[in-house]
Amino acid sequence: MHARPLVLFFWSVALALHSPSLAQDSPSWQQYVRAPASAIVHPAAILSSYTQGDVKNADGLVTGAYTTVLTRAGSGEVPTLVVDFGQNVVGQLLLEFAGSANGSSQGFPGIRLAFSEALEYLTDRSDYTRSDRAQGDPPQLITTGTDQIAVKNGPYTWEDQWGCEYDSTVCSDGLHAFRYVRISLDALTEDSPYTSPNGQVDIKSVGLRWSGYLGTPATFTGWFECSDADITQWWYDGVYTVDMGTDIFRANDTEPRGATSASLLNKLVLHDGAKRDRDPYMGDLAVASLTSYLSHDTSAATLNVLEDLAAHQRADGWIPPASINHYTLALFDYPLYWVTCSWDYVFYTGNTSYINAHYAVMAKILDTYYPAHTDSATQLLVRQDGYGDFAFLPRPGSAGYYSALYVLALNKAADLAELTTRTDDAARWRERAAAVSDGFQKTLWDPSVSAYLDRKCSGTGCTAHAQDGNSLAVLAGIANATTASAALRYLAGNTARSYGNAFYDAGGEGLGGGFSERVYPFISYFEGAARFESGDAAGALDLIRRTWGWMASQDPGRHALGGYRTYVLGVKPTKPGFLEWAVNPIATDDISWAKGVVPTPYGPLGVSWERNSGGELLITVDPPNGTTGTVGGLASGTKEVRAEGGQKTVVILV
Ligand SMILES: *[C@@H]1O[C@H](CO)[C@@H](O)[C@H](O)[C@H]1NC(C)=O
Ligand SMILES: *[C@@H]1O[C@H](CO)[C@@H](O)[C@H](O)[C@H]1NC(C)=O
Ligand SMILES: *[C@@H]1O[C@H](CO)[C@@H](O)[C@H](O)[C@H]1NC(C)=O
Ligand SMILES: *[C@@H]1O[C@H](CO)[C@@H](O)[C@H](O)[C@H]1NC(C)=O
Ligand SMILES: *[C@@H]1O[C@H](CO)[C@@H](O)[C@H](O)[C@H]1NC(C)=O
Repeated sequence: MHARPLVLFFWSVALALHSPSLAQDSPSWQQYVRAPASAIVHPAAILSSYTQGDVKNADGLVTGAYTTVLTRAGSGEVPTLVVDFGQNVVGQLLLEFAGSANGSSQGFPGIRLAFSEALEYLTDRSDYTRSDRAQGDPPQLITTGTDQIAVKNGPYTWEDQWGCEYDSTVCSDGLHAFRYVRISLDALTEDSPYTSPNGQVDIKSVGLRWSGYLGTPATFTGWFECSDADITQWWYDGVYTVDMGTDIFRANDTEPRGATSASLLNKLVLHDGAKRDRDPYMGDLAVASLTSYLSHDTSAATLNVLEDLAAHQRADGWIPPASINHYTLALFDYPLYWVTCSWDYVFYTGNTSYINAHYAVMAKILDTYYPAHTDSATQLLVRQDGYGDFAFLPRPGSAGYYSALYVLALNKAADLAELTTRTDDAARWRERAAAVSDGFQKTLWDPSVSAYLDRKCSGTGCTAHAQDGNSLAVLAGIANATTASAALRYLAGNTARSYGNAFYDAGGEGLGGGFSERVYPFISYFEGAARFESGDAAGALDLIRRTWGWMASQDPGRHALGGYRTYVLGVKPTKPGFLEWAVNPIATDDISWAKGVVPTPYGPLGVSWERNSGGELLITVDPPNGTTGTVGGLASGTKEVRAEGGQKTVVILV
């Protein structure tokens, strides 16, 4: 953007002519929605080059025109076909059998199923199946890589459920997240005499009973579209990923390593992944919940997890990151995400009664747990012995990232304290945030490269500069405008890969693990957010295009884009539930327009902006009654204009 004068108009017919319409709610965004149309999903194709053995009418499983017949006499080639659902799906496979005929061996003819998310991993066993991780207590390892069926002679529909048909034989892992399924007429020797590797199986249809949230166009409470079709599509891909992970917590289809929890059973949750880790994790919610709030009415999935983890707070104030391993997985950073996620929950949903209900938990995290792990000389956090972080990065001692996240959490907690007139706590937490920020700047700033060091130490890996520490320092406001842009410039110049930005610069190689080559989408989200927040929209979009562009080109290639849409559209809550909001679209030349609706408890908040041929930015805001907000200001450096709910307002930034 160039000069800064503002012109404010109220809605008029003349402006309506050259301003993207919110009123018509043009459904063009619906073309990007990934969800299947209904809860019974049909396959997209048969991969004919994978068909082998005696298989007749394989295409019948897609066209429905014929029954597909698999036949094997004696020990000939195993009849096999591969069904492609067209994209990743999650749920229980359904096989409608027309009937079967026993072969020469004893037992019903057997079917074996191998599931896979990517062609690359499509083999004669699933690329990952629940039993692969089920060495827990009690062990729930029931399959050795495929799901088995003893196909009865008469017609019936089989549904993949977790369990075994005959004592501990003919077993299935139940729910799967996959794109491809390989179906073979075959039997495990240990399933004898119940199944036989020969005979004939007639299959009328294959389907999937969808599990998770079915996010069809009709269910969207908010939507988004911009001039860049890729960015738009990636946002809907992220929504689809989050929807697949939004499900009821069930004992027989979640993470088998001690994650089953009586207090979560039958509650709606937002899993870390539809497949794995199929358990809700606090840090991942810091990204995924934002997508959820902006797309579907599923905030209960986040609330249930926040409340459950709070109920498992330890006496020293620590909160488990997830239910896995009976709530004992030792992560040092995740209790801080519980605090930031609580802020997000309150500000995006407007449920302020959450603050009082869980205030004591938040205060104990901040006033008991972290102070016990603080270096009094530097004010920086020292990771508790035996604890790791989001990627178990091996950084002996501690890392700046923890302290930066601490500053962010302290300030968010202070916001929540102020909302409930606990002004003493708010002041104390802000004061501590300032002291930690000061210690961070003094201890970790590396003037030789103008970026923050990962750690202050001497020895292996001590010259490393990390993506997480630098990004969080910017997001937490530890860095000022000058140091923020220097640190982000350093990351761009020293960690960029064609597939995203790596954990570390070359100095990180001292830690082993190839961290200067490895890209981690979860933590990359925070770098993108830091770039948007500090005004480097072009850098943020470049990072998104490399990271998510690379993933989208992969198979299955999906990951939550989190709240990026918040930045592109430029709407944020400044009071819980968007009672007050700020609209401040990104300033970049390669996106010419964006539009969307943010769901709020007061009603939909519509925003659109477009850049006209003269380079002016036309912002249209259609806020719900009872809310107020500002347009402009913040990163674009313009003066802000106030707008009232119930009245469409157009602002032109010249
Ligand atoms: C096929 O085998 C099963 C299992 O041994 C048996 O119960 C069934 O009666 C057999 N079907 C026929 C038609 O013989
Ligand atoms: C798995 O859990 C679901 C939901 O709790 C239940 O309906 C189903 O019967 C369970 N299946 C098995 C085999 O336990
Ligand atoms: C709001 O938060 C409280 C406390 O966490 C919870 O009990 C209540 O169910 C929430 N309300 C809604 C509408 O989700
Ligand atoms: C930003 O912080 C650095 C390091 O503390 C300081 O030297 C510089 O003066 C600050 N710049 C501004 C504009 O405040
Ligand atoms: C908003 O308020 C205006 C003026 O009071 C009223 O005309 C309009 O119907 C209200 N809109 C909604 C959606 O409540």
